[in-house]
Amino acid sequence: MGISDPIGKVDHGQKTAGSALYVADYPARGVLTGRLLRSTRARARLVEISIPDLPEGYLVVDSKDVPGTNGVHIVLDDTPVFAHEYVHYVGDPILMVVGPEPVLVEQILGSIVVTYEDLEPVVDLEKSETAFFDYTIEKGDVSRAFQEADRIIEERIRTGYQAHAYLEPQGMVGLSHGGRITVHGSLQCPYYVHKAVVQAMGFEPDRVRVIQDVTGGGFGGKEDFPSILACQVAVAAHKAEKPVQVIFNRREDMEFTPKRHPSLCTYRVAVKDGRITAMDIDVRYNAGAYTTLSAVVLQRGIIGASGVYTVPSLHIRGRAMKTNTVPTGAFRGFGGPQTFFAIELVMEHVAGQLGRDPLGFKLAHLAKQGDETSTSGRHHFPVPIRQMVEEIDALSGYREKRKAYRHQSGRFRRGVGLSLAYHGAGFTGSGERDLIKAVARLHKRSDGVVEILTSITDIGQGSKTTFTKIVSRELGLPTSRIIVENPDTDRVPDSGPTVASRSLMVVGELLRRAASRLKGNWREGEEQMIEERFKEPDFVIPFSLETFKGDAYPAYSWSVNVIEVEVDTLTGVSRVLGAYGSYDVGTPIDEHIVTGQMEGGLLQGIGFGSMEDMTADAGGRIRNNSFSDYTIPTSVDVPNLQVRLHIEKYPSGPFGAKGAGELPLAGSAPAYVLAMEHALGTPLDHAPFTMQDAMGILSKETI
Ligand code: MOS
Repeated sequence: MGISDPIGKVDHGQKTAGSALYVADYPARGVLTGRLLRSTRARARLVEISIPDLPEGYLVVDSKDVPGTNGVHIVLDDTPVFAHEYVHYVGDPILMVVGPEPVLVEQILGSIVVTYEDLEPVVDLEKSETAFFDYTIEKGDVSRAFQEADRIIEERIRTGYQAHAYLEPQGMVGLSHGGRITVHGSLQCPYYVHKAVVQAMGFEPDRVRVIQDVTGGGFGGKEDFPSILACQVAVAAHKAEKPVQVIFNRREDMEFTPKRHPSLCTYRVAVKDGRITAMDIDVRYNAGAYTTLSAVVLQRGIIGASGVYTVPSLHIRGRAMKTNTVPTGAFRGFGGPQTFFAIELVMEHVAGQLGRDPLGFKLAHLAKQGDETSTSGRHHFPVPIRQMVEEIDALSGYREKRKAYRHQSGRFRRGVGLSLAYHGAGFTGSGERDLIKAVARLHKRSDGVVEILTSITDIGQGSKTTFTKIVSRELGLPTSRIIVENPDTDRVPDSGPTVASRSLMVVGELLRRAASRLKGNWREGEEQMIEERFKEPDFVIPFSLETFKGDAYPAYSWSVNVIEVEVDTLTGVSRVLGAYGSYDVGTPIDEHIVTGQMEGGLLQGIGFGSMEDMTADAGGRIRNNSFSDYTIPTSVDVPNLQVRLHIEKYPSGPFGAKGAGELPLAGSAPAYVLAMEHALGTPLDHAPFTMQDAMGILSKETI
């Protein structure tokens, strides 16, 4: 059996039997319920908080109760555990009411009166004058290229919020016992949470323990936010001296937890003799009220702003702007999908203005192996996009349909769109080498069972299964002899967070190396512990965050997407007739898992491009806080989903594997909107492009 051949997921049994314990499933006896009192104002000074007399056993927890630092350690520490003096967005947590009866907790919450002194909020990205982060990428001679250009084309492209819409909302339990704090819950990154709780509690690291419960989806939404909630429950449990559980309902989760950053990108493109010679790009992301992960989200966004293309001269400025809205954070793709959406539309529109075929124009600018990247690093490995385009063209009939749908006049009109994209596999820049320094262990018990010890969390993406397959294969043992539990910081080393499509490529490779060493050194009947540490591959050109130069990523995963739509010109409703994707993630460690990730991501990206419409109102409040006000694609929305895997092995990944999880988000929204553009016969400039947007264009047509 090959490493790519599918096996049953190792955690399917308990999930399908209903015996898997999610955070809300833990016994409630003796556990107090916590509910957060949140700001109703977008920006205000807290003048007075009037709390009624509390019944026996009920308490209020606020910033004064934080024993350590009232700042949640994420990248910077500006997110308070509980608001102090000021609130900066609608939903900013002010305090927590804790007690045994959920109904009474809710009543107490409703009877607390907060007096605010309102301050002028900034809600609109374009009106914000505060940049949390401001980065510049420079390459070549941009001003000369613009002087010598025979044509300059300018475009503005926008994308909106996207909610993670994981099945399980955020939830966390804190326990205080014997001078220690234990936090367990729904989370992606046990050691991020650990560091945050250590700082908020002011404890030595060994007094904090973090355990991941079975987690019902993350998509990045459980990368940063659990650190905040963990600090809140830790402080509450410490004060109450009892376990405290906070489980968000769907409304609270959708309104007040991070989302994908809305973006506004302005492109100026210099063209000479039919080729793009330079781009001057301005990228602005709406970061919301606190910085959370905006620095790193923005970095990935600007690095990808020139897409899969080699542009000789580049000037890219990226800013993450503060607004008085809910902080935005990590979301599958991590800043990439916004700029990949923009560049794919820009390339199409520039080709159109030059009277060129868009696919031919894109391929003429495609990066090749050996080319410089946007950050003056290298494409060290083959760029397989051309072959993938041919494969998807054969599957979808793209080129033929592109011509056939040119002049349509009936009620139903069709269109096809194509996008090219990549995902830089692993952490951006030198983070893996300088910050994460991943460690993974294999513990061989005396009975010959091998336990995998890493801090990687399985949040549905299948890492327990792929890790098991790697270790089993390398050791030549059946998978039944390999075990992997949910991470517990008392037991597992820090292998880094479960983010950035790094888990399999980076930590999976550490496990493969550990297994290989264990095999060569196997001592029957003895307990053995094998440890491996991250080492940067030799070929990598060191990356500098000061100059934005060097290899931002060691390797890239690639995608080609085609989407075909049919628009009803009477109603504006569109239907996806087919969504096709060719993906190169190196060797798939499990074909079912990788195909599932690609299909899921393709669909999640179609949602981002077509229907997932979320906005903050003039007062800074998110109004789309349920699945009836925020619609996501369901299984009936895309019946014809076709995924193909193209394999370019990556020598530094386990068995040739690269990052996979985030790739499929990048290309689907641009392919969808370009298909709508083709069907409607007019250039479009934003995502989501909803049926109301389509109606807006169609109604103008008939006037
Ligand atoms: Mo992520 S969006 O790197 O969890």
